[in-house]
Amino acid sequence: MPKLLFLFFFFFLFLVRPYHASADFIRQPSRPLVFTPHNRPDSHPQQVHVSLVGNNYMKVSWVTAGSGVSSTVEYGKIPGKYESSATGEHTSYRYFMYSSGKIHHVTIGPLAPATMYYYRCGGAGPEFNFRTPHATFPIEFAVAGDLGQTEWTSSTLEHINASDYDILLLPGDLSYADAQQPLWDSFGRLVEPYASRRPWMVTEGNHEQEIFPLIYPKGFKAYNSRWPMPYKESGSESNLYYSFDAVGTHVIMLGSYADFNTDSNQYKWLANDLAKIDRSRTPWVVVLLHAPWYNSNLAHQGEGESMRIAMEEMLYNSRVDVVFAGHVHAYERFTRVYDNNADPCGPIHITIGDGGNREGLAMLYKEPTPSISLYREASFGHGRLRILNNTHAHWSWNRNDDSVSVVADGIWLESLSSSSSCFPPQIHPKTELASKKDEL
Ligand SMILES: [Fe+2]
Repeated sequence: MPKLLFLFFFFFLFLVRPYHASADFIRQPSRPLVFTPHNRPDSHPQQVHVSLVGNNYMKVSWVTAGSGVSSTVEYGKIPGKYESSATGEHTSYRYFMYSSGKIHHVTIGPLAPATMYYYRCGGAGPEFNFRTPHATFPIEFAVAGDLGQTEWTSSTLEHINASDYDILLLPGDLSYADAQQPLWDSFGRLVEPYASRRPWMVTEGNHEQEIFPLIYPKGFKAYNSRWPMPYKESGSESNLYYSFDAVGTHVIMLGSYADFNTDSNQYKWLANDLAKIDRSRTPWVVVLLHAPWYNSNLAHQGEGESMRIAMEEMLYNSRVDVVFAGHVHAYERFTRVYDNNADPCGPIHITIGDGGNREGLAMLYKEPTPSISLYREASFGHGRLRILNNTHAHWSWNRNDDSVSVVADGIWLESLSSSSSCFPPQIHPKTELASKKDEL
């Protein structure tokens, strides 16, 4: 028994201890849930958000409590003057006793690049505006995962909004409604001031699943109804994985909660999508997924491993530049890596699941720090990927230091497509071995 006690204390004192970024940094505790109430007339739009659809088009999504509102968006370049309008579609869904409002999706365009548009939804209510991405570099992506709707979420969103960016990328776990459907509505209202101004491109996390055996076996009812992404445009048959281009960057949104094994539709779609990339047109390739493939936090250990085993080689052979993940409520940046080893031609893996959710931070890390993990810290925050040109980009992680955003980590990146030793890709020996085995 004393031996067991000794082992127990040894484990907690030396192997499983909270990671401290610096001696003088005091980590903030979790903050309470923010419920954002509905305070507009039923015919007025709420939960307005926009997303990219192909080149030069934007999808405007919103919800009305009233069912008589038409799915029409009026828009133009001058406030209050709407030269154009478009009509789209609407949907709604039920989840047990809950019935959603009327969920509208309207694609508008073609739109000019780097232009402010003013728009009104359903012919009533407030005017909104968004700015389209630039046609040429630079482009800035804000990246935030596991947002939820707490006071930390509000803080993260304010920090994201405080300096300009073009597109927000979200690697899963949006509302943390967890089947309480009114929380999806509350989340939509919380993010509207931000998501109505810049396109939000999202992929799913485990909190989007909302699977209920026999009744909702496939899940994703709320997510697919409220946050449809341009999957058809990228040849995908599922809203759970898709890709899009934005200013010289090919962004691939993978689905950690869709089948990914070699005989799956997602695997085949990814192989096809990667094969179509033209690095002279999109020199940068960025992938987002939810459950990280590399993770030295004790939370969610190994959950991304089977997907890594299935798909990592494809990403490596396509010279993907960066892989962003969420799920772990902390920040971690790895070196360029392939198959658990540092590799100059592999992607940089970054976990950015620290947006502000109600579950709090994942404080415990494996010790000692693996050599491939270069920065790790359990604090809320968001990231910025500013791509300057075909070859160079800057990544920074902004920590929510109390109510102030502080840049805590930063690194310059060079596109693998500009690396003479990595591009064009040589087939990795492991792949050659595998294909020879197949031939035998
Ligand atoms: Fe998650």
